[in-house]
Order: sequence, then C-alpha cells, then structure tokens
Amino acid sequence: MDWGMKNRVSRLIKPKTGKAVWLAIDHGYFLGPVSKLEDPAKTIKPLIPYTDALMLTRGILRNCVDAGLEIPFLLRVSGGNSIVGPALSDESIHTSMEEALRLNASAVAFSVYVGSQHENQTLTCLGQLVNEGQRFGMPVLAVTAVGKELEKRDARYLSLSCRIAAELGAQIVKTYYCDDFEKVVKSCPVPVVVAGGPKLDTEMDVLDLAHEAVTAGARGVDMGRNIWQSSNAVGMIKAIRSIVHDGSSVKEAAKFLNQK
Ligand code: 5RP
Repeated sequence: MDWGMKNRVSRLIKPKTGKAVWLAIDHGYFLGPVSKLEDPAKTIKPLIPYTDALMLTRGILRNCVDAGLEIPFLLRVSGGNSIVGPALSDESIHTSMEEALRLNASAVAFSVYVGSQHENQTLTCLGQLVNEGQRFGMPVLAVTAVGKELEKRDARYLSLSCRIAAELGAQIVKTYYCDDFEKVVKSCPVPVVVAGGPKLDTEMDVLDLAHEAVTAGARGVDMGRNIWQSSNAVGMIKAIRSIVHDGSSVKEAAKFLNQK
C-alpha cells in the first residue's frame, strides 16, 4: 500500500489497537429521513467524541458537519436507488473521486449487491472506484448490501460477497454479522467491519453482536441505527468502544449503558 493510502487507512483503523468504531449516518441516501436521523447534526453532536470516523454522504457532510471538526470520514459515493423504487440494488457511482479528494475523505464507500439483478453493475462500479482509488491513494470500503432480503445474511452468502469485494480490490469490507462469522473473516484477505443492521430487540443484543464480531476477527463496527436509535446513544457507543478498543466483555461494557 502506498504512503497516502496507508495514512488514510490509519485515520480510520486506529494504529494503537488495530480497531475501529465508525458511526454510519449515510442511511438517508436511499431511506430519506429515518427515525432519529431527521436532524443529523443534532444526532451526531454528543456521539462525536466517541467516534473514530463518520460514514456519510457529501450532502450531509457539507450541510450538517462542521469543517473544523477533527474527525475523519468515509464518503458514500453511491446512490440512485430508493426504498420506494423498483430495485434497491440499482445503485451506481454518484459522487466523483475528485469530489472525495476535495472534501478530504479518508475513504470512499460503495455497496455491492452480489446475486442480485445488478450484480454486474455494482461490481463493475466497485472495480472502477478501486482503479481511481489506486491512482489517488484513496481506500475503498465495499459494503456487502442485501437490500430488503435480510434473510440472505448467512456465512455462505456473506463469505462469497466479502471475498468477491476483496478480490476486486476493496481495501476494507463492511458486512453483516452472522453465525459462523469466523468463516467470513478468515476467507476475506482485507479487514472486515460489521454493520449493525435494523434495530435489535435489546441493548444487550447489540453488545453481544459487537463482542461476537470482534472475537471472530472483525476489526470493528460501522454501526448506525443500533447506536443513534438507542434511547441511550452515548452510553451505547461508549459500551461498543470499550468492547472494540479495550477488549471489554459484554458485562463490563454494559456498565456504560447505566451512565448518561
Ligand atoms: C447502508 C449502510 C449503512 O451505513 C449500514 O447499514 C450501517 O448502518 P446500520 O448499523 O444501521 O445497519 O451502508 O447500506
């Protein structure tokens, strides 16, 4: 990896622990104003001190994030789909590499939909982004998306998607946690981070997911709804941070949930 790309990755995956806690707030690019993210600036303000990096679109970056904030970000550069449209998988590149460089992104993020009708389109876009990223020292985060088909999230499918994304050159892969998650991580030659997915039943379920994922080899989380839709978002991100960066058990981390 060239110096510039290495430097960008080290803003995201903290060299001290080799781990990462990213806050995903990019959901609006296809979901619009999701609950608790209607006013992104308000949602993220108390969470910023506990966040290694934000994942977001250029619109939310420019309008809701102070340029003076010392926080790296992963820029979602894909879009063109919506929750009410014909196919969530119909996604392509909507933000240029030039724009990512102008905004000082630490990585660009793109969703691939393996097995969908837009498999080839999204994988081709990923390849294109990786080519441009190599040219400019910009890491690419591939997100293994499943659209509305949440039942796809098993080790067989996610291993396939993660491995394809890495083979096409993504420097980091984001996927879902699943049973036998070790298999997913072991067969993917680049760092893997996990999304949280739709809000889980309990806060302890979220901590379990983060703990199991990191124990199985994930480098951290890129989580959204299970943090900022929590009634105690600050306690939740602190608890996740202690699992990811300090190696806390779920029980130890749960103490943060009792703090405000
Ligand atoms: C959407 C995304 C989201 O950033 C990702 O799903 C993380 O958020 P959550 O933890 O809410 O699932 O990439 O495609």
